[in-house]
Amino acid sequence: MTEKIFSLPSAAETERFGAALAAGLRGGDIVLLFGGSGAGKTALVQGAGRALGVTEPITSPTFTLAAEYEAVAGGRRTRLIHLDLYRLTRTEEADVIGVDSFFHPDAIVMAEWPELIAAAAGPEALRLEITGGGSEPRQIRLSCAEEYWGERLSSFLRP
Ligand SMILES: Nc1ncnc2c1ncn2[C@@H]1O[C@H](COP(=O)(O)OP(=O)(O)O)[C@@H](O)[C@H]1O
Ligand SMILES: [Mg+2]
Repeated sequence: MTEKIFSLPSAAETERFGAALAAGLRGGDIVLLFGGSGAGKTALVQGAGRALGVTEPITSPTFTLAAEYEAVAGGRRTRLIHLDLYRLTRTEEADVIGVDSFFHPDAIVMAEWPELIAAAAGPEALRLEITGGGSEPRQIRLSCAEEYWGERLSSFLRP
């Protein structure tokens, strides 16, 4: 596991972080976004979405659990699946709504409140944990499997 911590002094920086991350994403990737309410998870997905060519407004799909957008990653058409699993209370519910079917080679998954699917997402998932809230700067802890992400995120992971 490779781990790195980043400081994000403003909401714009959170979006920029998402956009920079998106440059290394491709279909099949899963990004787990941990962090409390108001941490900036959606802001990060919005930045990523913009970089992936999503033109529709992105908001937290808290009630629908999942939203899907046409996207382009590395010059290929793909989908961005944005999950907000705040309302899931049991792992079995994740099975019922078919979260597994979102893990697809043609889709990039970015999941808020991913605790209940983290195990199913597997060791290749990229984990981001945002801390801080309110008007404070945020910190993001990124952890990922070096052999899976190292090349693509080299600009991030380089010391
Ligand atoms: N690095 C940051 N510094 C300060 N405020 C931020 C930062 N990142 C995001 N925010 C702000 O935090 C608020 C909550 O962001 P949001 O993305 O909706 O959080 P979450 O999806 O985690 O609940 C927004 O007003 C957003 O602009
Ligand atoms: Mg959110």
